[in-house]
Amino acid sequence: MAFIEQNQQWQMRTSEGDIALTGLTEHATRPFYVYNLEDALTRAARFLAAGVSVHYAMKANSHPRLLRELARLGLGADVVSLGELQKALACGFPPSKLIFSGVAKDREELEAALEQQIFQINCESFEELQLLEAISRERGVVADVALRLNIHIAAPTHAHVQTATPESKFGIDITQLRDVLAWARGKSSLRLRAIATHIGSQIEDLSVFENMAGKMGQLYRDLQGDGFPLERLDLGGGLGINYQESGAGDLAKADEYLKKLKAAHGTGARILVEPGRFLVARMGVLLAKVIYIKKTSTQHFMVLNAGMNCLMRPALYEAYHRIAPLKTKGVQGRYTVVGPICESTDKFAVDRDMPAAERGDWVAIFDTGAYGAAMANTYNESPLPKEWSWLGGRWEVT
Ligand code: LLP
Repeated sequence: MAFIEQNQQWQMRTSEGDIALTGLTEHATRPFYVYNLEDALTRAARFLAAGVSVHYAMKANSHPRLLRELARLGLGADVVSLGELQKALACGFPPSKLIFSGVAKDREELEAALEQQIFQINCESFEELQLLEAISRERGVVADVALRLNIHIAAPTHAHVQTATPESKFGIDITQLRDVLAWARGKSSLRLRAIATHIGSQIEDLSVFENMAGKMGQLYRDLQGDGFPLERLDLGGGLGINYQESGAGDLAKADEYLKKLKAAHGTGARILVEPGRFLVARMGVLLAKVIYIKKTSTQHFMVLNAGMNCLMRPALYEAYHRIAPLKTKGVQGRYTVVGPICESTDKFAVDRDMPAAERGDWVAIFDTGAYGAAMANTYNESPLPKEWSWLGGRWEVT
């Protein structure tokens, strides 16, 4: 586990000993993220050990040192914009391990992908595939393509992070697949290598992935039977974590997930996965200072200096994150935890029973390594939070 509570103090657990989080806040005035990169690398190694191709969904967290370390370990990346493509390359991911997803890839982005000869372009619409074919033909090159399919699965997760309902903007609607294939057949500037899907995020029920992999395997076999020489199945990301708990069972869960994926598709395809959250959520905490404990006629507000500018997830998805003072005093309190932003939705928790804290104390908001800093913004002219990463006895701050 990346962080543990010991002697009423929260510590970052590392192979070189525990580091008290309070020590990090001594000279700090603004909220900041702390990353235990060891934790992310352990998880990534576990995925690699399963014998699948792992393409980290870098939208979850693109801290450069994290990217460099994951690239060094041998992962590929899943990118969704030219900016991510360039950053992935700059941080050491080889083009031969890059997947380019995204629903709005424009000419410039497709051209960049072709120039770099990346591993796989995941086309999300007939329209995009047609543009890619035209660009490839103009340039006299052949594009390695996957069709990202919307296979109509309403994953049990927050509606805002479902991506495969019939109403979703993502992927080629499964009902259009035959038409797309009829058009693509024989196009010499497209090499159809794979079918891909990503049914949503923060999915904890593994049977949903099994069902998805089974459906994709069936499609794969059908298409091969129709003479499309597919060789890979890209099963996306989406594995969730239990935000209520500390993650002691996570690695076993990853093993189970990967085992189920591998067993369910029933093809000889090479399996690709695109995990984001599962690799990096647990490695991060957001540290914030208590500015006031504000009592009103109905509420006991814990007012922090970090808000939805630093961490959007609670405001966007009503997401739960554990929160605790870095030093606990053995006394409990009940708080509505809010930030400084001028929005009523700037709230991390409502009437939460948790260890008591006072003005001037620092608190940790846990499991914020994924979609935390990556989604931070400067609303209300707030500065972006710094990110401190630890690995091998050394801090790096960006
Ligand atoms: N592959 C594709 C094509 C994706 O769109 C995503 C995430 C992933 C992989 C990685 O999914 P993961 O393993 O992280 O669930 N901001 C939201 C999550 C948005 C996910 C977007 N796509 C949150 O904070 O919960």
